[in-house]
Amino acid sequence: MKKLILLSLLVAGSLYASSLGFGERRGVAPVTDKFYEKECGSCHFAFQPGLLPSRSWKKVMGDLENHFDTDASLELEDNKKILRYLVNNSAEKFTNYKRSRKINNSIYRDEIPIAVTDTRYFIDKHRDIRKRLITQKEVGSLSNCMACHTTADRGSYSERDINIPNYGKWNDD
Ligand code: HEC
Ligand code: HEC
Repeated sequence: MKKLILLSLLVAGSLYASSLGFGERRGVAPVTDKFYEKECGSCHFAFQPGLLPSRSWKKVMGDLENHFDTDASLELEDNKKILRYLVNNSAEKFTNYKRSRKINNSIYRDEIPIAVTDTRYFIDKHRDIRKRLITQKEVGSLSNCMACHTTADRGSYSERDINIPNYGKWNDD
């Protein structure tokens, strides 16, 4: 009986997810942890844990005092809590999400990138964007995912939801 209930929940859940348009798991898993969202989403977009492998998150969380030229340090307990969430949901744990899998596969074993924007997959996907579209004040840098990916906060990076300020929809054909 328990199994049956669990199964129907799973089926209902995935039907719901596909009705939202990202159920085929093309993007990355959305952020689910409110504490993470609050602490790590105050200066910038709360990057989904599935955008980097766990070794990257360990490195980021191990040096928050020198975090991209700012001090983002946390109390030890809070740091541990967030690290646990990030590691449990990191890119290599979500191989059923296409973007997580691709990002993870693009990083060599001996590399530990601390930025999504440093990964090979990311660089390759963004190399055709004109520089002035990135440096313009509405965007600033490629780290500002939400400036172009209007649904990034839902973990969806599909092409139809890209809208670059002062350029518009992206069409690569
Ligand atoms: C005090 C502000 C601040 C806080 C708080 C903060 N960050 Fe950042 N973070 C930055 C800045 C500045 C950058 C550089 C990129 C940019 O300008 O947005 C950055 C970049 C990053 C990047 C790389 C983004 C890329 O370019 O791919 C990651 C990953 C990241 N932060 C994770 C975190 C995590 C995890 C937390 C929570 C523990 C956190 N940040 C909290 C300021 C902050
Ligand atoms: C200046 C606008 C801009 C910013 C900022 C930006 N992107 Fe993109 N991104 C694009 C464009 C345009 C494409 C489409 C490239 C293509 O497929 O031709 C893209 C593609 C992608 C893809 C692949 C989607 C697909 O269907 O192939 C992912 C994943 C992605 N971006 C993630 C991110 C993340 C994560 C961030 C922030 C760290 C980010 N992007 C920041 C414009 C941007």
